[in-house]
Order: sequence, then C-alpha cells, then structure tokens
Amino acid sequence: MLEKGQEILVLRDVLIPGGRVADITISNGQVMHAGAAGKGDLEISCRGKFVLPAGTDLHVHMRDGPQKEKETWESGTKSAIAGGITVVVDQPNTIPALTTSDLLRDRVMLAESQAYTRFAINGGVTSDADLTGMWKAGVFAFGETFAGPSSYGEAVSSEVLVKAMNQVAGFHGLMTIHAEQVTEGEDQSLAYHDHLRPVGGEVQAIQDLLTLNTSRCNLHFCHLSSADAIRTIPEGLASREVTPHHLFLSYESCDPKDTHRKVNPPLRSEKVRRELFSCWNQIDLIGSDHAPHTKAEKGQEFAMAPSGIPGVETMIPLLMGWVHEKKISIADVIAKTSSRPSEILGITKAGFSPGDRADFALYPDTLTRISADTLHSNAGWTPYEGMMAVFPEQTILGGLVVFDSGDFFRPDLSDDYSGSSLWVPGRGYSL
Ligand code: DOR
Repeated sequence: MLEKGQEILVLRDVLIPGGRVADITISNGQVMHAGAAGKGDLEISCRGKFVLPAGTDLHVHMRDGPQKEKETWESGTKSAIAGGITVVVDQPNTIPALTTSDLLRDRVMLAESQAYTRFAINGGVTSDADLTGMWKAGVFAFGETFAGPSSYGEAVSSEVLVKAMNQVAGFHGLMTIHAEQVTEGEDQSLAYHDHLRPVGGEVQAIQDLLTLNTSRCNLHFCHLSSADAIRTIPEGLASREVTPHHLFLSYESCDPKDTHRKVNPPLRSEKVRRELFSCWNQIDLIGSDHAPHTKAEKGQEFAMAPSGIPGVETMIPLLMGWVHEKKISIADVIAKTSSRPSEILGITKAGFSPGDRADFALYPDTLTRISADTLHSNAGWTPYEGMMAVFPEQTILGGLVVFDSGDFFRPDLSDDYSGSSLWVPGRGYSL
C-alpha cells in the first residue's frame, strides 16, 4: 500500500461512468490527471472492478463514551470504510447530549484519536443548547433536531424550534430534522410501532416545520420513510434523505416482534416501501442513520428494546446489489451517496476529474451474502442477514489505501496530504 513519502498512486484502467476507460493519477490526496498515466509509486489494477468515488454519510451515530458497547469511533469508522464510506457526520444525541462548544471539542479530540474516516460533528438543539458557541467551535449542522421523540432524543417544543431556526438562519447554517408525531400506546409489535408513529404524523410534522420556518432557515429532512413525506417537501426547499432500511426492509415477512427491525421512523408496510422506491428520483441522498444497539438491548421484550439499526457498512453494498440487478444505475449511487452529500457538507467532491478528492472504493463484480460475522460494528448483528450485496475490496482515502481485503490502515493526512486532520469543521469555525 502507498505510505507517506510515496508520491503517486495510479489506478489503472478505471471504467468511468459514461463508458470511458482511463488511468487515474493521484497525488497529495487529489486526482491530478485522468488519461494515460506514467509509472506510479503504487499501482492498482481496476480492470473488471467498479470504481466509485467513496461515500459521504451525513447521518451516523458513533456513540462511544458511556455507550462503547454499542459502538466506538474506531469500530464505527472501520465499519464505514469497509462499506466504501470515507466521510461520516456524527449526530449529537450522545451521552451527555452534545450541546456546548466544550463538549464539541472533547468529541473532536476523541474522534481524532480513533477515526479511520474523515468526520464532521453536528450540534444538538435543546432549550439550553449554546448554538452560537457550537457554530464558532465548528459544528457542521444543528440536529438531528427531534420534532418527535426517539431513542436518546427528547422532542423539542415549537418555541424552541422556531428560536433555533431563527438563530441558525442568522448563521446561514443548516438544521437537520427528525420529523415524526407519536401517539401514546403500548408498543407491542413492528406493525403497531408503525401505527403509533404513522406516515400521516411524519407528513404533518414536516408541514408544521415548513410553516414554522418563517426565517427560511436551510433545512435537511432526515430518514424520510414514505412517498407522502417526500412529496410534502417541494423540490429545492430542503434536502431529502432516505435510509437503506426504509428502502430495503418492511415490517412484513419477518417475525412481527423482531426488535432488530425496530427503528424510528418505523419500517412501513411493503406497499409503502415500494411507493417510497417509486420516488427514487426525488430522493436527494441516502444516509444510513447508523444507530447501533447491543444484542442484549435488542434482546429485551419489544416495548423495552431501543429503536435503531446499524447500517453504515451495508448501505452502499446493498445499493450496489441493486445496481447488479439493474434496478438503479451506478451514476445514481454516486450522486446519492457521494456527490450530493459532499456538496451539502461543503467539501470537495470525490471523483475522477483533476482537483477532485481522491477518495474511492473498488467493488468486484460479484454478490456476497450479508453476514453479521463479517461486519465491523460493535453491535454484532444486522437486520440484512442473508441478503445479497456487493462489498468493496479496497477503500482509498486522500490517495491512501485505508482498507484492503479485510485489513485496515489508519490514515495519516498530515502535511503533505489533503489536510492536517480528519476533522471537517463547519463553516462557522473560528480559531
Ligand atoms: O431509531 C432511531 N434510533 N432513530 C433515531 O432517530 C435515533 C436512533 C438512535 O440514536 O438510536
């Protein structure tokens, strides 16, 4: 593998979407040239492989701290790069919730000491959160802001939401929204979980948010679970994220009380899942909402088990399975898992043109059966067990091979590579 000090990586015979075959010359973390290349210090043959710009996942919960059994920055980001993702955005419903600049600095230091990916960190929105302090300290966005309660996330009132949207609009920042309405009731099964947190409530919460947003704060709607929700958000008004679990799973054809499929917003019926996929072209991006919980926590009875599904490692592999089935195109996967999320995050896109960020994942042309035994999250289970997917063989970050056939190499991006740190600070960052 290419190590610090070696200068040039050449990816040979890359099939670029559109049909052209070219060598990609990489130096200093950037693509230098696409075309016939001279000799590199390291060369990787890409003949017969699918080379994709690596993914940016705007929605992961890396846990750690008192929740190490669920996930740590090390296990979660290894999981990400083994799934072709080199940039993750961490959510603030940590313990304690990330609501101050000091907590942000601590979180950046912790992540910096363990991460295998680049990372950004969001700030929490609560009645007493210091939004200005966190913006200046470098949060990327505010949220996911719970317009409905979830595991480790209290719902915030309309007053707090409006005040926060006004403030974030003042920074020209971004607020990310968990939109749900929840009915009281004994949570007994997956179908009942869907009933207590219905599609109608998701739509109503979105409409309420859009009405309350008189300051025209930039909004990003997380994990939209239905076609109705997608259609409620006019094109261009806010970005629309959908998770792999809402695209690939329903609450049908599984044990009705399977806690491993308990998640917020809930998995829907097969009919609603299919309708969601029919809106594929209106979905801006796919985010995993990687929310690991331990086997023991998920082993509790349904009402007690926490909501959340680990998914950062299986997200792009599942989509590549759909590419294999010719259900979606590679260009779609690149747009929705790499280009658009990178644009929203405000980082240089990964890609094949000179100046692009040299983050790639190399996929074989073969399907593999998903098995939790081969995944890297501390959760140790997956709701996709047995489903077919295409996993990357190699992942490259800033021109460095960070994952190679099951082996991991921690990236060192200092000085001569694409930045001095793995942290991607938000636009409000001031030293
Ligand atoms: O099911 C969920 N679990 N939905 C969320 O929005 C939060 C997440 C978690 O953090 O466990």
